[in-house]
Parts: sequence; C-alpha cells; structure tokens
Amino acid sequence: MGTRRRRVSVIYFISKLVKWDDLCMEIISNPTQTEIKKSAQALMDGHLVAFPTETVYGLGADATNEKAVTRIYSVKDRPVDHPLIVHISSAKQLDQWAIDIPDYATNLVNEFWPGPMTLILKKSELAKEFITGGQESIGLRIPDQQVALKLLEEFEGLGGLGIAAPSANRFGSISPTTASAVEIELSSFLGSEDLILDGGQCLIGIESSIIDCTKATPVVLRPGAVSIEMVESVTGYGVSINSIKTNTKTSGLFESHYAPKARVTLGMRTEFGDGFIALAEIPTPIGTVRLASPKSCEEFAQILYSALRLGDQFGLMNIVVVEPMGRGLAIAIRDRLNKAASGKRSRD
Ligand code: TXA
Ligand code: MG
Repeated sequence: MGTRRRRVSVIYFISKLVKWDDLCMEIISNPTQTEIKKSAQALMDGHLVAFPTETVYGLGADATNEKAVTRIYSVKDRPVDHPLIVHISSAKQLDQWAIDIPDYATNLVNEFWPGPMTLILKKSELAKEFITGGQESIGLRIPDQQVALKLLEEFEGLGGLGIAAPSANRFGSISPTTASAVEIELSSFLGSEDLILDGGQCLIGIESSIIDCTKATPVVLRPGAVSIEMVESVTGYGVSINSIKTNTKTSGLFESHYAPKARVTLGMRTEFGDGFIALAEIPTPIGTVRLASPKSCEEFAQILYSALRLGDQFGLMNIVVVEPMGRGLAIAIRDRLNKAASGKRSRD
C-alpha cells in the first residue's frame, strides 16, 4: 500500500514538472498573419510546418536546409531517394530552381499557376540531392490556397527560397485533406516546435497533376485536376501518361499507394458490412455502410480521402468504390482508386 502511494505521488510530482502540451506540436486554426509569420520563422529555424494547399495538406520544410528536409523523410518514413516538390510563391523564383525551361512549360505556368499542377524541370545548382533524390530534375509548384501563399510570402520575406512539401501522411497512406487527418497521421512523429496550420478542408482533395517538362513534349506522370485535355490544349502537344513504367522513384507512381487500412475493391460487388462509396445517383446496396454520395466528379475528388479514412475509423474490413466514368478529373480519381485497390488481397 505504502509503495503504491509513493508511486502515485511520484507520478503526480512528475506531471507537475512536465507540461504535456509542451511535448506536442501546436495546431493553429485559421492562422492570423502574425501566426503565419511565426510559422515562417519556424521553417527558417529548421522546424516542420504542415500546411493546407488546394489539393492536400503538405508537410513543409526549408528546401535548402538538409537537416530539416531529412526530418520530413523520417517523419513520413519515406525512402530517401523519392524526390520532394518545392513550393514557391511566384513564377519569378522558377529560374532559381530550374534551368532550360521549355516554352510549353512557360505556357503551362502562365495558364495554371497558382494551381494544382507540379512541373518537373531540369534542376539548377540550388536543388540539392536531398531534395531531388539524386535526380537531375526538380518538381515545382505554386499552390492556390491563401494560407499556403501567405506562408510562402512570409518565408520568402525572411530570405527563404522555397518550401519542400510532400503530402503530410506516412508513406503509402492516404493524403490528408484536413488538419485533423494530418494530426492523426503524424502527431506522434512531430516535435514540440513543429506546427500544423489548419486552413479547413482542401478544395480539390487529390494531389496535383505532375507534368514532366524535361523532354521535347510534356508527359503526365500523375493525373490531377489539371487534366490531360487541359495540358494538350495549352501546349498544343499530344500528351502521354507514363505512370508506372518510369525509372523515377516517384512514390505516388507505385502501383499500391494512397491506401487506407481497409481493403479497397472496385465495382458493384458488395458483401454485408462493406463500406460503399459511389456517385449519389447510385443506390446503396443492402447491408453496406454508405461512406459518401458525391454529386459530381469534383465532389468525388474532394471527399474521397476523408470517406476512405471514415471507413478506417469505423473499423471496416472492405470498402467498395464505384469509380466515376469519363475523362478530366475522373481519370485522376480512377488513378488513385486503382492504387488504393492494388497490392491488396482480391475478393475473388
Ligand atoms: O498536390 C501535391 O502535389 C501535394 C501538395 C502538398 O503540394 N504534394 C504531394 O507531394 O503530393 P508528394 O511528395 O506526396 O508527391 C509528389 C510526387 C512524389 O511521388 C514524388 O516522387 C514526385 O512527385 N516527384 C517529385 N519530384 C520529382 C521529380 N523530380 N521527378 C519525378 N517525380 C518527382
Ligand atoms: Mg504523397
């Protein structure tokens, strides 16, 4: 009894000394300009700041600080030879990071930035191996989200050159589209001086289109909201998709990626207790748990990842998704769903 009492009082004493809040990263909701300034300073000081973009939340670090960038890899548990996208606030900074920019890439920049499009360009000296995964190219993007743009502007005001930011999830998992999803994914891996900026739900909901501009004509490496048709009409070139066959270590191009814990199966075949995601016009099969009923492809993209996460929160074993048909954004949604569904045991 005496020992127990002593143990309780020791725990009480330690809890008085340690403020548990000091051990966790801070989450800032609807950040003010002052809080964004503080976050930019945290980046300059080598800490990590997760922030919203119009696509998904990113886990940011100063793209010229090797130690900070190395932490991104360990927090995400991502292989170090998978390159990171560098985010900038204005096309003026392109020449710092990239060389030999083809005219068709400049056309894409003028048309779609700020926006959900990442360009792969030949890298400059500034882009070091710890960003490019040892490749000769660099991924660049100007996001179209106010918190992200303000953070970039404040960061650049302090002398920063770009924010490296992969999606703020553990390697292989679903990208977060809300700050609470970032917290669920990464809070146990972030430190007390790291920050999460909460800017609400991401408007687009799936990752940027990735366009390789290192060749004579553009190649789509990852389809997104800037569709193949849009790239073709702006560049005047026929565009090919080159997802899996590339040599590049591009994690989003792995066959199995963007996956929840539940098994994802595509089609209409359901069993009792399955989760179910489909356009609103498709009725819910008897015995399934409806996770989302988007009314359009745009809404499908926006809620897809949170619906898959909801399935995990419910502890569902299997989520059946009816893919949207058509081109444009539907191609990008099918791309992510096929990755979420592959590498898992098939139902048959
Ligand atoms: O929407 C997005 O792109 C989000 C937000 C935060 O900007 N970012 C994002 O980053 O999705 P990440 O790292 O999760 O996915 C970017 C993909 C990775 O598969 C990476 O390997 C690839 O882009 N990538 C980056 N640089 C590349 C390069 N130089 N060549 C080929 N692929 C590259
Ligand atoms: Mg990612």
